[in-house]
Amino acid sequence: MCGIVGAIAQRDVSPVLLEGLKRLEYRGYDSAGLAVVDHNKQLQRIRVLGKVNELQEQHQSSPLQGGTGIAHTRWATHGKPSLDNAHPHICRNQVALVHNGIIENHEQLRAQQVDAGYDFSSETDTEVVVNAVYEALQTTKELLQAVFRTIEQLEGAYALGVINKDEPERLIAARKGSPLVIGVGIGEYFIASDVFALLPVTQQFIFLEEGDVADIKRDKLTIYDSNQQIVERPINVSELSSDVADKAGYRHYMLKEIFSQPNAIAESLENRIEDGRVVTSEFGQNAESIFQQVKSVKIVACGTSYHAGLIAAHWLEEIAQIPCQVEIASEYRYRKSVVVDNTLFVSISQSGETADTLAALQLAKKSGFLNTLAICNVAESSLTREAELVFLTHAGPEIGVASTKAFTTQLVGLFLLVIAIAKQNGLDSKQEAMFVKQLESLPGRVNQLLQYKDDIENIAKDFSDKHHALFLGRGSFLPVAMEGALKLKEISYIHAEAYAAGELKHGPLALVDDDMPVVAVAPNNNLLEKLKSNLQEVQARGGKLYLFADKTSEVESTDGVYVLKINALYDFMAPILYTIPLQLLAYYVAVIKGADIDQPRNLAKSVTVE
Ligand code: F6R
Repeated sequence: MCGIVGAIAQRDVSPVLLEGLKRLEYRGYDSAGLAVVDHNKQLQRIRVLGKVNELQEQHQSSPLQGGTGIAHTRWATHGKPSLDNAHPHICRNQVALVHNGIIENHEQLRAQQVDAGYDFSSETDTEVVVNAVYEALQTTKELLQAVFRTIEQLEGAYALGVINKDEPERLIAARKGSPLVIGVGIGEYFIASDVFALLPVTQQFIFLEEGDVADIKRDKLTIYDSNQQIVERPINVSELSSDVADKAGYRHYMLKEIFSQPNAIAESLENRIEDGRVVTSEFGQNAESIFQQVKSVKIVACGTSYHAGLIAAHWLEEIAQIPCQVEIASEYRYRKSVVVDNTLFVSISQSGETADTLAALQLAKKSGFLNTLAICNVAESSLTREAELVFLTHAGPEIGVASTKAFTTQLVGLFLLVIAIAKQNGLDSKQEAMFVKQLESLPGRVNQLLQYKDDIENIAKDFSDKHHALFLGRGSFLPVAMEGALKLKEISYIHAEAYAAGELKHGPLALVDDDMPVVAVAPNNNLLEKLKSNLQEVQARGGKLYLFADKTSEVESTDGVYVLKINALYDFMAPILYTIPLQLLAYYVAVIKGADIDQPRNLAKSVTVE
């Protein structure tokens, strides 16, 4: 989704802006641009339809120099990807602006501005904002008041960076519904959509709150809240180093992130377990007394995070014997639902900025739930600030658009939650210690599974010329199959669907032929025999089967059936373990297809709009 960088400094800010954009690439984008106020108090701008590298090349051949500037990567929402639609947008060579979010009343504002004689050079919803700032500036004569007047007219979500050629020592930032952070330097300030963009220039950050407007000068920062009152916002010192965004020798961020899972899981467990017991207070100070009252759980999330919720529902019902419903956030937020007494609302999100998940949480807070919990990978995200209880997964920054380590660490957080709730529901300390042991075994077992990478790379060759694939699973492995299918489709563009294996004969079997590879996860559990008969149905129709099975499963490779026997003994950790080969499969298929793995087409890492 769109990325914003801005800077105000004594030095020339273009290199900082370009590096910042590079580090925001993972969010997904189709065009990029940069504008500065130059030393002659004129606005200068360059834009490209394409990658930040091309913007860098253009900048090298005609550098822009100035101490105040804004830059942007655009992910098209209103208007196709094009040069004219790329940000920054400029009104009458006076004001330049970058925007992330969606202005919902842009059509109405556009009509008013057309009547007032404004020309439009783009199809974006953003251009009305820069025009509105310009219009207000004609009376206010200074940028801060002009931005205040402008945002009063806006409906929807925005993070904004605005500069005015006549006030070269000023940068205005504003946020509502879209993330924006201020980087505090020595005698210089920066803004960005997230901290990674600014790590090369500062470790100190201020997270703007909803409705905040920041008036930023080189030596002075003033923040106004939504009532236009001056407020103090704390400075947070980030522990991230600037090389977190490096690939560490891996070909893609996604591969680096897949291989960092043993470490990410270990980090997510640290301090959460003590002497064989789950530390319930890691969910919040009063988590224990809240969990004592939980009679049911509602989980809401999107995409991969939704799949994590589906697996957790199996755990909750089996281990804690607590009913659990899981729902896609974009569905939940627009339907009337019934809240059962003493239901804990759990939202799951890697980024903590997903618009639908956030809106679902906001709705839940008004709907009579016992309490709300966010399981999230980003401290200080909108979701963690909104929820009453918070569990932070310590996966570290995830740059590849396809979620991998965020997913497995969400599952770790969810398993801890299940145990913490189950303790209030009769789970004894012996059982708790047994589950904790399973959790503690995870980093080592995930590491063992990563060693199958060469086998999986080999299988991947069979998929690269296929257009469709089926993924099968049963029980808590159905969401694992769903996650495997999602990974394959999003990075290799092969159409992939997941089915509960028992559903095959109710429809999808009609699709199976020798051109449709079928992938199945086959843990050695009570459903293995049933799964085996489902698989025979596939084999009988000439479908080629790829089975990820446990060493003890007693299934062998035969004609048309490839069995990869993995070391994944069946226990509650098995859904996490079986995810690993599926991640690797999607990755290697995409490598063979030459796809843009870390930034798949049309996708964004952080989906901050509906
Ligand atoms: C797929 C993927 C997405 C996200 C979804 C929700 O690999 O990453 O499906 O899971 O967009 O994002 P978060 O978890 O940030 O709310």
